[in-house]
Amino acid sequence: MFQTYKRSPITLVKGDGCRVWDENGKEYIDFVGGIAVCALGHSSPILSKALWEQSKKLVHVSNLFYTQPQTELAQVLVENSFADRVFFCNSGAEANEAAMKLARRYSKEKFGPERHVIITMDNSFHGRTMATLSATGQEKIRTGFDPFLEGFRYIPFNDLGNLKSAIDGSVCAVILEPIQGEGGVVLPEPDYLKGVREICREHEILLLLDEVQVGMGRTGRLFAYQHFGIKPDIMTLAKALGNGLPIGAMLAKEELTDTFGPGSHGSTFGGTPLITAGVLAVVKSLLNDGWIENAREMGDYFKNKLINLQQKYSIIKDVRGLGLMLGLLLDRDGTDIVNTCMERGFLINCIQERVLRFVPPLIIGKVEIDLLINCLDEILKEIKI
Ligand SMILES: Cc1ncc(COP(=O)(O)O)c(C=O)c1O
Repeated sequence: MFQTYKRSPITLVKGDGCRVWDENGKEYIDFVGGIAVCALGHSSPILSKALWEQSKKLVHVSNLFYTQPQTELAQVLVENSFADRVFFCNSGAEANEAAMKLARRYSKEKFGPERHVIITMDNSFHGRTMATLSATGQEKIRTGFDPFLEGFRYIPFNDLGNLKSAIDGSVCAVILEPIQGEGGVVLPEPDYLKGVREICREHEILLLLDEVQVGMGRTGRLFAYQHFGIKPDIMTLAKALGNGLPIGAMLAKEELTDTFGPGSHGSTFGGTPLITAGVLAVVKSLLNDGWIENAREMGDYFKNKLINLQQKYSIIKDVRGLGLMLGLLLDRDGTDIVNTCMERGFLINCIQERVLRFVPPLIIGKVEIDLLINCLDEILKEIKI
């Protein structure tokens, strides 16, 4: 295999809830959750049942036909969001591709060919395909892959002044993560998103929210935008939407529907009956079984415990995040802490070199959180300042 990932030297063979086991039988409590994916945890019986039952009925027929699970999933997403229409694909990057294509075509049709520029944020992450890489505001991820797609303008996150000055007649959309994930778990300033929404409305620019990492209950609401008193024009989802099944979705308002008529966009595997049956079961469980409330409660509990650690150890510079998307900013590289946690039976990861990130399954409880906090406490005590 290409060595495209900095893999830990363990092979995982099974999982159950918030726990996974390696080939030697060692148990780990999982605070990576497949990188904000496994919302219902590992080996979810709800997911297994839905997949097993659907696999006996219909696995794939192409998007030339309607299928019941796909239609029902679209209905559930529409009923629980700002959106009226859904397009299914296989990943977050593909959902963002669809969103940017939709925004460009809609704007060109409505305002003319000049209107194509997409404003995006420094430090953002939108995927690894050429278009989403072009939209990603991180040099280290882009190095060596130029030339990029034309028509992207990069501005700092959390800066309304810069957004205003970046707008001219060529701008069709703004894309942003309501909380920057890979960028280091960066929250928007109070009223920043409201400000962005207002500016977009004023200039008739589309607001694209990338909720690939923050969506589906992680922040303690089904979608992160619901915390900030705004609604986007387009939103993208993936990760926790499928609890590990490959799915992405692009949701949009009715007004944008005609832009994507037959033949304008597509995906062979996007929303197959097998995958959408599994996803439907996941989404229904998130909505009906109290996991979003659990994410809110456990997120607050966890964050307070992290703040207590910050008060004890000066190596911790900041505690960030919302719900079960939390980060600890350190004054140094966090790799050693990640490795020691793993030796002691906890999976966590480190982003931007110095941010320990915690995105566990939304079913996590106080017991698991306390165990991790004790482990971090021990490790931090042993570190020489
Ligand atoms: C905010 C955000 N957008 C897009 C992506 C890309 O998703 P995928 O890896 O499914 O293509 C990610 C992945 O980490 C992400 O965090």
